[in-house]
Amino acid sequence: MSIALPDLAAMEAFGKRIAEKLRAGDVVALTGGLGTGKTTLSRAILTALGHRGDVPSPTFTIIETYEHLDPPVVHADFYRLEEPSEVEQLGLDDYREGAALLAEWPDHAGGFANEAGCLQIALEMADEGRLAVVEPGAGWQERWP
Ligand SMILES: Nc1ncnc2c1ncn2[C@@H]1O[C@H](COP(=O)(O)OP(=O)(O)OP(=O)(O)O)[C@@H](O)[C@H]1O
Ligand SMILES: [Mg+2]
Repeated sequence: MSIALPDLAAMEAFGKRIAEKLRAGDVVALTGGLGTGKTTLSRAILTALGHRGDVPSPTFTIIETYEHLDPPVVHADFYRLEEPSEVEQLGLDDYREGAALLAEWPDHAGGFANEAGCLQIALEMADEGRLAVVEPGAGWQERWP
């Protein structure tokens, strides 16, 4: 399913749609090249869940946590991982306990498409805006669209 995201307002609305369905254990796997809007969409989801304040890009920290939300959220950017096995050293599984994961560059962590709770979103440039191609995992079938 493709969704046109012509501007930042469309990104906010899309993030809200995802936030309304998000549960602990889910992964929102955000693929797409540099600058395609992965962090922007993550911010929109966090804002819709009620987060107020900064959402720093996890480019350097790799993992940022938002434990006060329902569900709690782990926002990760795996771009800097040299190989997928490094996710274990990060303790990702512990962070994910009871939380939803928003993952930028998921392929650098081995990918999450094998998980039923994975909502795959591929972002692409489209004129001034973006296009999202959404692939819901088995656990999302009754929630999406
Ligand atoms: N739907 C949209 N329409 C227009 N501009 C957008 C849209 N979504 C994001 N942008 C803009 O694109 C730029 C890059 O966005 P963002 O940082 O979210 O990309 P990213 O995919 O996280 O990049 P990186 O791979 O470096 O982490 C920002 O200036 C943002 O405002
Ligand atoms: Mg980013």
